[in-house]
Amino acid sequence: MSGSRRITERTAMNNWVITATFALSALLCATALFFFVFTRGALLARGLCARSSSERSHVYPIYSSMWLIRLVDFQPIISAILLFQYHRLVSHIVAGLKRTDLRGRQVLVTSCAFGNVIPRVVRAALEAGAERVLIADIIENELVHARRKLEAFRGRVAFVEGDATHMRLAPGRMQANVMFFLLHELPHPLKAQALREAGRMLAPGGKLFLAEFHRPELWVLRALSWTYFKVFEPFGLALWTTHDPLRYLEGTGAWRCERTTCLFGNFQLITATKR
Ligand SMILES: C[S@@+](CC[C@H](N)C(=O)[O-])C[C@H]1O[C@@H](n2cnc3c(N)ncnc32)[C@H](O)[C@@H]1O
Repeated sequence: MSGSRRITERTAMNNWVITATFALSALLCATALFFFVFTRGALLARGLCARSSSERSHVYPIYSSMWLIRLVDFQPIISAILLFQYHRLVSHIVAGLKRTDLRGRQVLVTSCAFGNVIPRVVRAALEAGAERVLIADIIENELVHARRKLEAFRGRVAFVEGDATHMRLAPGRMQANVMFFLLHELPHPLKAQALREAGRMLAPGGKLFLAEFHRPELWVLRALSWTYFKVFEPFGLALWTTHDPLRYLEGTGAWRCERTTCLFGNFQLITATKR
C-alpha cells in the first residue's frame, strides 16, 4: 500500500471517529436535556409560577403526562438510568417476596415505577400465596399505565390512587410493602412520613422491601452520583446523610433491618421487618 493511500485511510478513520464521538455526545446531551426539562426543570418552573402547592407538586411530568410515561417507559432506557442494576435490584426484592409466607395476605406496592418491576413483583407475591396485590400511586395516569402491564393478573390486583405519606388504607393489613425508588423523589420531611405510613399499614412481622440510591464507596462514582443528584434529583442526596432510611427505620425501634448494597455501594436494598 502506498504511503499516500495509508494517510488517506487514516484520515477517513479519524474523521469517522470524530463524527461518531460528536454524534454520541450530542445524543447524550439531548437525552440529558430531555430528562432535565421533564423532571427538575419542570419543578423549578413550577416553583416560579405556582401560587399554591399541592401534595403532587414534587411529582415530575414524566410521571403524570401519559404521552411522556409511554415514551420513557422502555426497559433498556430504564435499566441504563439505574446503571444496568435494575434487573438485579428487582430480583433481590422478588427473591425476598418468594421467601415470605404471604398465604391469604395482602401486598402493597407503594408507587409505580417504569420497567418490569411491577409485573415481576406482582407475580412473585401471588406465587408466594398473596390473595391480592394493591398498587398505589399519587398519579392516576401511572395507575392506568400499570394496569396495562398487569392484564395477566386481572382480578388479583387492585389500584389505589393515594399519597404514600397519607394513605387511606386501614392499619396492620399488609404483609409486605414494596417501595422502589420513591424516597429519593420525596421532599425531605415526606421521606420519614412515607416510611411511617409503610409501618402503619404493615401487620406485625410484615416486611418492607426498599430499593434506593446509596452513597457510593468509590470516589469517582461518588462524584458522578453527587453531580447527578445536584442537577436532576435534588431530594436524593440526603439519603446519603441526614435522611438515611436505614438509620431512620432502626432509630424508631419498630423494625429489624437488613441492608445490602451493590455496584460499589451506589444502590441499597433494605428489608425491614416490623416488630
Ligand atoms: C417510584 S418513583 C421513581 C421510580 C424510578 N425512577 C423508576 O421509574 O424506575 C415514581 C413514582 O412515584 C410516584 N409518586 C411520587 N410521589 C408519590 C407519593 N407521594 N405518593 C405516591 N406515589 C408517588 C409517581 O407518581 C411515580 O409513579
